[in-house]
Amino acid sequence: RTIYLKDYRVPDYLVDQTRLHFELQPSGTLVRSELHIRRNPAAGEGLPPLALDGVELELLSVAIDGREVDDQQFRVSPEGLSIDVDRPEFVLEIANRIHPQDNTSLEGLYLSNGMYCTQCEAEGFRKITYYPDRPDVMSRFTTTIVASRDYPVLLSNGNEIDRGDMEDGRHFVTWEDPFAKPAYLFALVAGDLEHVEDSFTTASGREVKLQIFTEARNIGKCDHAMRSLKKAMRWDEEVYGREYDLDIFMIVAVDHFNMGAMENKGLNIFNSACVLASPETATDTAFQRIEAIVAHEYFHNWSGNRVTCRDWFQLSLKEGFTVFRDAEFSADMNSRAVKRIEDVSMLRTAQFAEDAGPMAHPVRPDSYMEISNFYTLTIYEKGAEVVRMIHTLLGEEAFRRGSDLYFERHDGQAVTCEDFVKAMEDANGVDLSQFRRWYSQAGTPVLDISDDFDAASGEYSLTVRQSCPPSPGQVEKEPFHIPLKIALLDSAGKNLPLDTSGATEQVLEVTEAEQTFRFEGVSEKPLPSISRGFSSPVKVRYGYSKEQLLFLMRFESDDFNRWDACQRLAFMAMEALQQDYRAGRDMRLSPELLSAYRSVLQNRELDPSLVAEMLSLPTAQVLAEQTDEIDAEAIVAARNFAEAELARELEEDLLAGYHAFSNDRPYRPEAGDIAERRLKNTCLAYLCVTEKPEYLDLAQAQFDSAGNMTDSAAALATLVDRGSDEQAESALQEFYRCWHADTQVVELWFALQASSSQRGSLDRVRALMQHPAFELKNPNKVRSVIGGFANRNFTQFHRADGKGFEFLAEQVVALDRLNPQVAARLVTPLTRWKRYRAELSEKMHAALQMVMESGELSRDLYEVVSKSLV
Ligand code: ARG
Ligand code: ZN
Repeated sequence: RTIYLKDYRVPDYLVDQTRLHFELQPSGTLVRSELHIRRNPAAGEGLPPLALDGVELELLSVAIDGREVDDQQFRVSPEGLSIDVDRPEFVLEIANRIHPQDNTSLEGLYLSNGMYCTQCEAEGFRKITYYPDRPDVMSRFTTTIVASRDYPVLLSNGNEIDRGDMEDGRHFVTWEDPFAKPAYLFALVAGDLEHVEDSFTTASGREVKLQIFTEARNIGKCDHAMRSLKKAMRWDEEVYGREYDLDIFMIVAVDHFNMGAMENKGLNIFNSACVLASPETATDTAFQRIEAIVAHEYFHNWSGNRVTCRDWFQLSLKEGFTVFRDAEFSADMNSRAVKRIEDVSMLRTAQFAEDAGPMAHPVRPDSYMEISNFYTLTIYEKGAEVVRMIHTLLGEEAFRRGSDLYFERHDGQAVTCEDFVKAMEDANGVDLSQFRRWYSQAGTPVLDISDDFDAASGEYSLTVRQSCPPSPGQVEKEPFHIPLKIALLDSAGKNLPLDTSGATEQVLEVTEAEQTFRFEGVSEKPLPSISRGFSSPVKVRYGYSKEQLLFLMRFESDDFNRWDACQRLAFMAMEALQQDYRAGRDMRLSPELLSAYRSVLQNRELDPSLVAEMLSLPTAQVLAEQTDEIDAEAIVAARNFAEAELARELEEDLLAGYHAFSNDRPYRPEAGDIAERRLKNTCLAYLCVTEKPEYLDLAQAQFDSAGNMTDSAAALATLVDRGSDEQAESALQEFYRCWHADTQVVELWFALQASSSQRGSLDRVRALMQHPAFELKNPNKVRSVIGGFANRNFTQFHRADGKGFEFLAEQVVALDRLNPQVAARLVTPLTRWKRYRAELSEKMHAALQMVMESGELSRDLYEVVSKSLV
């Protein structure tokens, strides 16, 4: 069944108060609710039946205003409960039973390592009790949790208002959340947990207690998250004027979790991997990811909770905006350029692929079968780019006026993407009507840009043609409103002034299918620097020559575009290598690429992390996304060849780089140190491509002596990829021996093997799934092993006999029985079958077909597979 945005209607009934009472039992938890319900005056006349959502619930009783409702008056279905109503306002009491122990979907109330926890977004609350489970029903919640003393910590949203002992030896705690919220923001946690505590004083002087809860063994891994939280709280006050609003803010780490984390009011629940870190056990990447996710969830308190979504088609209203906010936060805390490069790389690989595939959808979708499938890169990352474009078009101050108005106007409401855009317009007297198409049209726009220079008149012009390929249900697209940030470089590499004010950078507003922008008084033909900072989520085509790209790499002052010039050059070189390979010619690496990489490596002025990014060849996934017909074998051959050539030719510079950026300073996860480690480890990985014993020894020495996980894991990955069998196996064993008790490190150990192009063979991946630490019921383990293989091991996954695809299909089918959300996500690589050359394409398609015919699929998996087969 498909749900359509156009069918939206306001709720028939509102719930002013929600009182919940839980008696926790692993195999039979009793839930009692008391809902203060009122006819919605905005919904029209009469008293239609009250429709409540409820899935997999054991209904025990229903009462209205204290009187049992007899079963003539209500109807139960697998999807919910419909009750006849004879009055406009009443108190509904329901009792039902649920079974947390059997809940492997990790949605609703479930157990993780003996700890009770919940995940209600998007539609998990209906697995707890019967309720109008839709975000536009906002209610004030009071929650009482009763449990045995084996669960000393009992948490829910808001403030604790009561606690005590029961006569039977159990105890209870009651929580009250003063802010009305939709059911998807409800949370409950019960367990034997320790916590760390800190406090934060808000701008207006209120003191907030901050607590992070984990199992005792992880209590030493909370400090980084706590520091990140305090930074995020300060940043949101300074940059958006947003203060926290409760007296307490709690975070809980949970090992079994479908996504990264969840912004439940006052009680954020996190995937352990996204909150726990220590220098010995977490890589720099993990430290930075934790900082970003802690901030993301915290920022939702305003962009998501105080102002929430009217319906799930508006998901990007909170997610796109909040990703934009967390990206800016991370940029302010670390290197802005590198953050941008990382985000754009992800967008260009995964989001562009999604936007060109069978599941392509607009930032505000028109329809869905299962909302869980729409927590996508398009909603999150492209949605963030859409907000960023508004920021670029309006400028910092005007954007802030818009966000102030948005928060003020809609505080306490459930609203739409349209309301967000309207606030931006109203606060600034601007017209974003054409811009709104970014919310309704799917697909990645393409800009074809050409230029012209008339020496006699001194006029330079840029002609921009925009187009957008068709996507499911959308054949023709109307032109987008695209901010295109540009500069013009003269032959000395200087930025030309673009107007009388002397500004050297300008945001062109592309609105037509074809449009020409003219610049007067230009004395020589300039080189355009286009889409600086990646000013819009589009593909830019301009016929840069290799020489022009080299020039940009030397003189471009926008770091993002400097990196992008390097990527374009590498892409051209890899294309040529792929052609050589297919034609059976000897491959020859472009000398321009070689000299470009050499000069980047020798440049000690540049931020080392930017150097590391520039030295990294586009991944196989990026190369695949950018080609019309993917030839996996040629991509792998070209990339391996280029890597080997670079390693051989740049050997001395790489070694110099390795030593220059090694140091004995104590570990700190700070931008400067992270940059040095990143470049050092990039050099090490290249050096070991040569497979020379002296470099493998260097890797071994780093592995043996590393004082932090970043250096240790980088050395291990290098040994696994390039070392002898013996070296690789003994390092893997040693690492496991040392870290087997640490869940996060074991996940890394799994991932590193499954994604190794050299050693992550299908046999090894199957063996890892038999490892005692592997658990099909744990999404992190699944993502490390199966996801590592299917998403990050391009070489082995695309093996010519199609066995990689068959394997994935098998696992997806098995997982669907346990956890539909994870299964539907994991199947993604197979949905790209149309992009591949004949043989692989057929094998991929066959694997997808196999999933379809395997029996009854969950709604989640069915939607993805059925849409991808056509
Ligand atoms: N709102 C959460 C976040 O962005 C993600 C929750 C996703 N849940 C789900 N079932 N898909 O931080
Ligand atoms: Zn979010």
